[in-house]
Amino acid sequence: MTGSETVGFRSLTDERDDYSPPVEGSIPAWLSGTLIRNGPGLFEAGGRRVNHWFDGLAMLRRYSFDDGELRYSNRFLRTEAYDEAMTGRLTGQFGTDTRGWRRILDTVRSFGLPEPTDNANVHVAKIDGEFVALTEAPRRVAFDPDTLETRGGFAFADDLTEHITAAHLVDDPHREETIGFATQFGLSPQYHIYRVPSGSRRREVIASLDARGPAYIHDCSVTDSHVVLVESPLVLSVLQALNPFSEGAIDMLQWQPDSPTRLLVVDRDSGNLVADPTFEATFCFHHVNAYRDGREIVLDLIEFPNSEIVGSLSLSALDGKGFPDVPAGRLMRYRIDPRANSVDRERLYPGGMELPRVPRGRVGREHRYAYGQATDREAANGLVKVDCETGQAIEWWERGVYVEEPIPIQRPAGDAEDDGVVVATALDVEAERTLLLVFDAATLTVEARATLPHAEPFGFHGRFFPRED
Ligand SMILES: [Fe+2]
Repeated sequence: MTGSETVGFRSLTDERDDYSPPVEGSIPAWLSGTLIRNGPGLFEAGGRRVNHWFDGLAMLRRYSFDDGELRYSNRFLRTEAYDEAMTGRLTGQFGTDTRGWRRILDTVRSFGLPEPTDNANVHVAKIDGEFVALTEAPRRVAFDPDTLETRGGFAFADDLTEHITAAHLVDDPHREETIGFATQFGLSPQYHIYRVPSGSRRREVIASLDARGPAYIHDCSVTDSHVVLVESPLVLSVLQALNPFSEGAIDMLQWQPDSPTRLLVVDRDSGNLVADPTFEATFCFHHVNAYRDGREIVLDLIEFPNSEIVGSLSLSALDGKGFPDVPAGRLMRYRIDPRANSVDRERLYPGGMELPRVPRGRVGREHRYAYGQATDREAANGLVKVDCETGQAIEWWERGVYVEEPIPIQRPAGDAEDDGVVVATALDVEAERTLLLVFDAATLTVEARATLPHAEPFGFHGRFFPRED
């Protein structure tokens, strides 16, 4: 661990609009659309630094592909959290002790109405035609996908109670609906799993499940007929929140190593809980995908043996030292048998992996390949493509280059799952520039390498929106 990657945790105030970066190689002409990524851009205000990577101010990044040309823009979301930062007041949401998630704690303490942060820095989605930036506090911010200008708050047209919510929404192209979930505190905490039909902004509750803890749950998966949640024993402790010394959501998190992990498999149409097998304590941020295989349900995800990864991403741990020396994420396959209420777990790839994706067309359907960030390289984060059928993996990495979340995009005219490209940003820490890399999805050969005019701080997630003609 060299620590040189800490350039990825340095604030960026430079905003670019429709910049045309130099490109080596060539971008396929069929690649037409826009990748929009979200992540933290600014980590200081009023002379103070936020405590956790998750707390930097939301900055959108836009990579637009048209006939082999690339254009780049980046822009902060103009939110209340941004305005407060510009006047020197620091707000956070996860591990920072001023406002934000602190407001959720205050809500829990007072059982009053939530007034959480609007620093929507985790993910993006398109809901009812509106482009929306998302975080885990229940406030969402709409933006213009062309200019990245902030349009204002986005509200669902319903009254679902949510205290903490999912920034990861599953966009299911096969059923024209988006699936998400939210957590409600109280005497009987619940997870509400919902759908948003395409063309609507009203959430329909599929199921409300009794929550243990409740747990901190970051992501979910769907099959064509199920929704799957992984409830780790990383508990959002309301008792901890009542402790006057607790400082943010991170202080609410309590790892309970003697408690099991529980899978929650819900029938997407009836809302019935069809399986809830348990096994040893594990933690999971991100799912790869799920699908039905006969009577079984296959769920691929990135598993951690414990929750150390969460605390290790605090900036006090990262500053000057770089990525933490904690157990790496493991690509796992869970086979769930609802009749036996059992699960078999198998590791698919021996290396460290995170930020996994499959092409959009495979969501909820059988996938062969899982793409992700290869995390345990020396002074680099690479790209890995795992053949989930054979266990073979192809990797790409370059010293000093930190690949971020890869997005596989199938060629519209192609048949094979890996006929297309993988688009990923990557930070070159020596040059202090972020790169936009376009890989052949079959071979991971670099087809194009664009150099942006600055180093973006490490971001979280993005989505590719094909051009609609
Ligand atoms: Fe995430």
